[in-house]
Amino acid sequence: MENITYHDYKPATLSFRDAVIAGLSGECKSIPPKFFYDERGSKLFDRICEQPEYYPPLVERKMLSQLADEIASLTGTRRVLIEPGAGNATKVRLLLDALRPAAFVPMDISFDYLKSTARELAREYSWLPVRAVCVDFTHSMPIPEQTPEGQRLLFFPGSSLGNFDPDDAGDYLSLVRNTVGDNGMLLIGVDTRKSKSLLDAAYNDAAGITAEFNLNLLHRMRKELGMDCNPENFRHRAFYNSEAGRIEMHLVSRHKQELRLNGHCFNFEAGESLHTENSYKYTPEEFILMASRSGFRDVRHWVDRDGLFAIYLLESTGSGPIDS
Ligand code: AVI
Repeated sequence: MENITYHDYKPATLSFRDAVIAGLSGECKSIPPKFFYDERGSKLFDRICEQPEYYPPLVERKMLSQLADEIASLTGTRRVLIEPGAGNATKVRLLLDALRPAAFVPMDISFDYLKSTARELAREYSWLPVRAVCVDFTHSMPIPEQTPEGQRLLFFPGSSLGNFDPDDAGDYLSLVRNTVGDNGMLLIGVDTRKSKSLLDAAYNDAAGITAEFNLNLLHRMRKELGMDCNPENFRHRAFYNSEAGRIEMHLVSRHKQELRLNGHCFNFEAGESLHTENSYKYTPEEFILMASRSGFRDVRHWVDRDGLFAIYLLESTGSGPIDS
């Protein structure tokens, strides 16, 4: 029988409508990147991950499979393995046989997605207790009482931390530190700073999938909110801002236009942009400093030989941040 339990913490989601109205009302228009991921957006993101220019998934997967045994020798086995934003949990499969965790706790905001991932994992790894948690993991990461005992290891791949602004990234690492507790560990994949040409290409793939992913936000506004916006009146723009160390994604208005939603009217000048995503890149020094401020020390980190991507194994230090 499958050893699996489900725990729904009923994440309160800011409605897409509220976020769009708030984001278009400010002087600099922006919408948080989490709204990219409706069904079509999630499929487009999966396709981005197959594009040759978008190196992070390919490089990270290769590193994880090569490093699995070395990582396990540093973490030990029988830990409680937690993965926030687990999605379809493809990367953790590269580690499970080596890490032999006491339990796996996948977390996701979408309960349906979480259920099918948990079921598949429990079927594939019959020895593995799965405790599936539906929660907005950016706010809290509750570990169900029914979870077997064990020191904790949190796995956060994909450079997802890069989509937080640096202050929020530090706060999130503090939350991770509190979640894993004393003797807890964090295994995290983080994209590195590198040449502008490689980064610009990664977010402007030749097949136009990243552009479609970005423009999908407008399709979603039209379909879900009934907003009178035509995606063809905007163009995708992504570039590496090397001073800030981040990719910026924008939707740029091709001409002067008005978008209307529920009695609100939003004016766009020609060339005006709607900022849709930041994706921060960190040197190992920058990242380790940020992690140390959140109560972690670097146990070991690995950068692939081309310097494209980094994986860090961190351990909580005695002086972790205090629960707020
Ligand atoms: C999910 N996240 C880490 C991706 C990134 O690279 O920041 C999202 C993405 N946006 C455009 N391409 C990929």
